Formats: sequence, C-alpha cells, structure tokens
Amino acid sequence: MTQDELKQKVAQAAIEYVVPDTIIGVGTGSTANFFIDELAKIKGTIEGAVASSEATAERLKGHGIPVFDLNSVAQMSVYIDGADEADPGLHLVKGGGGALTREKIVLAVADKFICIADDSKKVDVLGKFPLPVEVIPMARSYVAREIVKRFGGEPVLRDGFTTDNGNVILDIHGLEIVDPVAMENELNSIVGVVTNGLFAARKADIFLCGTANGVETITA
Ligand code: A5P
Repeated sequence: MTQDELKQKVAQAAIEYVVPDTIIGVGTGSTANFFIDELAKIKGTIEGAVASSEATAERLKGHGIPVFDLNSVAQMSVYIDGADEADPGLHLVKGGGGALTREKIVLAVADKFICIADDSKKVDVLGKFPLPVEVIPMARSYVAREIVKRFGGEPVLRDGFTTDNGNVILDIHGLEIVDPVAMENELNSIVGVVTNGLFAARKADIFLCGTANGVETITA
C-alpha cells in the first residue's frame, strides 16, 4: 500500500469517532485533507467544524461543510489531526505544515484528540523530525540562542515561510526528546515563543495508525 493509501485508510477509520450533531475540530496537512474529504460524505450528520488553518477552512468550505469561528464555540466533541511523529506514550511532534499554534488552540477546546497517521510517523523517541517553534519575528535570533543554550540542537529558520498568524518558524534539528512535557513547557517559557510543536502536556487520546496490515488503534 502507498503512503497515501495508508493515510486514506486512517482518514476513513476516523469517521467512526465523529460525534453526530456536534461541532468538531479539524487539523491541517495531507492526512487531515483525506479526513476532510471523508467528512464531506457525512457532512449532514454534524453541525460543522472549526479549522486549524486557512487551508483547512478553505477545503472544508469547498465541500460545503459549515466552518465556525472558534470564538463562537465553547466546546467540541473531538479534534482530528495528523502528526509528524508519535511516541509510544502518544506524545506528538506537529507543525511540519506550520499550523501548530492554531492546531493547539483548536485542540484545547475539544474533548478528545484522535491522531491519524501512517506508520512512518511512529518513533521510540521524538526529535528526529525537526521540532517546529513558532516565534514572533523580532525575537527569532534571541529565541534561537536561548534554544541552543538550554537544549542544544540546531534551530533553522524556515525560509520564506510565514504562519497564518504572521510569525516565523524555527525548526530545531538534532534533538532527542526524552521528556516531552518538560521540553514543551520550557520552550513555551522563552519570551518571543508563541508555541512549539510538542503536543505532550495535551497529547493524543487515540492514535489510528495506518499499517500494511490495516489500521491499528493505539492508546497510551
Ligand atoms: C501541520 O502543521 C502539521 O501539524 C500536520 O498535522 C502534520 O505535519 C502532519 O502532516 P501530514 O499529514 O501532511 O503528514
């Protein structure tokens, strides 16, 4: 099976977790896009969705799925999104597409987080995928120096990229993240950091992992 076929399988499996007559949160990326296309088939059963990026909002609207502003939504049944890495404890690295901050905000309002990804995203220890950190542009050099001082690694500015929030991304290469919760919190404490791509303090509840033998349902 190709990687895209695996993504499609997990997207289909995630439909089972969509709670009828509620608003759901929808992530960003190629796997989330497969999910949006599946969601379109059952769009009449939900009230609508909150999008974690402009790109996701556009795709949802393109399918005629009502998109709500998060400020008008007090609760969501579920948040469904991909990941760049997932460890056995279901701590994640996200933000390869640069939508990490809005993803984290939408997730905060959801009751449950279903992560969907193919098995190439499964790792023992997070950090091989460069960890994205969203930074206020004027703080980027200061934040990069602080990161090196506190954690080592090599922060690299994502060239020519601006987030939906008008900020820049530093991708930290060469980390071995043994305590994801501590690192998530400490990174967020650096002045100028908007947020980072570790989803550890709030992690996935269920990981639907696409393998050659079918979709594996993993809980921590
Ligand atoms: C977007 O910013 C990311 O968090 C994505 O959810 C993550 O990069 C997974 O993307 P793919 O499904 O395209 O691999």
